[in-house]
Amino acid sequence: MKKIIQLLLVATAGLATASFVGCASHSMSKSTTNSITSAPFGTMPDGTAVQIYTLRNTHGLEARILTYGGILQSLLVPDRTGKLGDVVLGYDHLQGYLDKTPYFGALIGRYGNRIGGAKFTLEGQTYTLATNNGPNSLHGGIKGFDKVVWSAKTFVSPEGPELILAYYSRDGEEGFPGNLMVTAIYTLTDDNELKLQYSATTDKPTVVNLTHHSYFNLTGQPNTDILGHIVYINSDETTPVDAGLITTGEFKSVAGTPFDFRTPTAIGARINDPDVVLQYGPGYDHNWVINKPFGQYGLMARVTDPSSGRVMEVWSDEPGLQFYAGNFLDGTITGKYGAVYKIHDAFCMEPQHYPDSPNKPNFPTTELKPGEKYHNTIVYKFSAE
Ligand code: GLA
Repeated sequence: MKKIIQLLLVATAGLATASFVGCASHSMSKSTTNSITSAPFGTMPDGTAVQIYTLRNTHGLEARILTYGGILQSLLVPDRTGKLGDVVLGYDHLQGYLDKTPYFGALIGRYGNRIGGAKFTLEGQTYTLATNNGPNSLHGGIKGFDKVVWSAKTFVSPEGPELILAYYSRDGEEGFPGNLMVTAIYTLTDDNELKLQYSATTDKPTVVNLTHHSYFNLTGQPNTDILGHIVYINSDETTPVDAGLITTGEFKSVAGTPFDFRTPTAIGARINDPDVVLQYGPGYDHNWVINKPFGQYGLMARVTDPSSGRVMEVWSDEPGLQFYAGNFLDGTITGKYGAVYKIHDAFCMEPQHYPDSPNKPNFPTTELKPGEKYHNTIVYKFSAE
């Protein structure tokens, strides 16, 4: 309800293109104010203008987000000495994102992760999706929500600056049924959280699984690998996959396996363990079943970088967490600050429903029916120790 009121306020105040200019300083002093400003960030091949929005909270944290793909282009957070560092991978220019991106920082939909065989059946009808990952559909297809320009409005709520993105996905887009109206609200809160709240409605039964795909490196030095980052995952079980990274439908205890992060452990400690399912990654690229009641908001994971002291917690009301260790980064991308992104130079934490749920009747459903409202909150919360 709060969000609806905010949206109405934004609409009635005609703030679609307004900028809230606060102090542009990156200092850590409490004197900075919440602000959100915008600037041009290039043009799509069809002439559509892309904007970049800069959100700042009163602690000096800064998030820069594109209307293209809702991409988090940079995220400045303090280390243990208060020094700000950019903790996400990405490009300086739009062209990089248009040419080649493994979903850097993007909003992911309609279906985050894989749908096996790029097919599913809903209410007796089989839908065939675009294949973009071998025979499977990955992250919404060839042109998923990461590759479209979202409309934007801004707002400064008591929580912090907000960017309200909206996208209307037409019936049949990438093979998915139903006209889907999607809203994604990014808030940079004064609790040093980057909060993403999705909502969606449809006019036909469909499947929806939205997530966020930032590549984090908490050192703030994208040339340093993340193998020394310490990870805790609030999970007793994973959903094992086959060689094509499609879930088998089973659940497996993490006990005695390299997937056990109930005791905080370095990412690199067991990443080369011969565990067959781990090596399908190769390395971490799996879904953890989070220990909390279905639909309840709670802590999923905590990642600490011992070198900088930065800590990132992941909170969500989603049932699963895809933890990906940047296994496919291969040195072929040069990103911001001229950094060449090599294997394990970043990790992703993607709260979501379990992969291939539309074909796994024993998994929590991802079906959305007309009259229902999809909702999903993802929070990345930063501190230092
Ligand atoms: C997700 C997938 C990975 C990979 C990346 C993008 O995390 O699970 O297998 O596709 O996205 O490269």
